[in-house]
Amino acid sequence: MRGRTQRPVSPKHIAIDGPVAGGKSTVALMVARRLNLLYVDTGAMYRAVALAALRDGVELDDGEGLAAIPRRHRIDLEPAGDARGYSVHLDGADVTAQLFQSAVTAAVSTVAAHPEVRRVLVERQREIARQRAVVMAGRDIGTVVLPEARVKVFLTASVDERVRRRLEELRAAGSTIDTATLRAEVERRDHTDSTRSDSPLRPAAGALVLDSSELRAEEVVARIVEFAAGVDRAQA
Ligand code: DC
Repeated sequence: MRGRTQRPVSPKHIAIDGPVAGGKSTVALMVARRLNLLYVDTGAMYRAVALAALRDGVELDDGEGLAAIPRRHRIDLEPAGDARGYSVHLDGADVTAQLFQSAVTAAVSTVAAHPEVRRVLVERQREIARQRAVVMAGRDIGTVVLPEARVKVFLTASVDERVRRRLEELRAAGSTIDTATLRAEVERRDHTDSTRSDSPLRPAAGALVLDSSELRAEEVVARIVEFAAGVDRAQA
């Protein structure tokens, strides 16, 4: 499929991968705004497919049925000036808030484990990256989607810290979920994402591996921007 278009992927891309609640979204958006690049959260694309599957009654073990969803439905990611930095439209309707509801979150790792689904979404992600330079966040961006990105980052944090951050976010949004349930959910998603046979979560060769447990978002951003500048100097 890649051979279909001759347009090369821009060398300016920044790929940010990492586990659930490792800080990717916050940091990727900040880096994109700082460097004037387009922020693309690929997790939102998998979430949009999961949401449509739940609505359409497509079984979560039906890889072909799930892969047909992005062909049958229109999924658009639009940049936005808010704290999330984008909105997602499904057949023209804004579904951004629904993508982060618990039913979608519970289903999405299973949806994302199907190679048929990944093939379709990875091609779309590459298509976006052919149009303009991006900061793309996900699980397989440095390893599979944009292996030619000039900067690859693997952003993680301890499970305790990731659960703490996610709990804070969910509680702020009105959720009453308890720590033990959330921890089990995070560990289950970590396990599914890193043990699946197609594109498991792992750092890309040459990636800057950052543990953000003890770092503020601004410090993580500063390290990535500095790393990118170093790569630029080395390539000049
Ligand atoms: O980053 P997130 O939690 O919104 O991602 C949702 C799910 O999608 C997550 O379980 C892993 C999966 N995902 C993936 O497999 N590959 C990506 N590039 C992005 C997300």
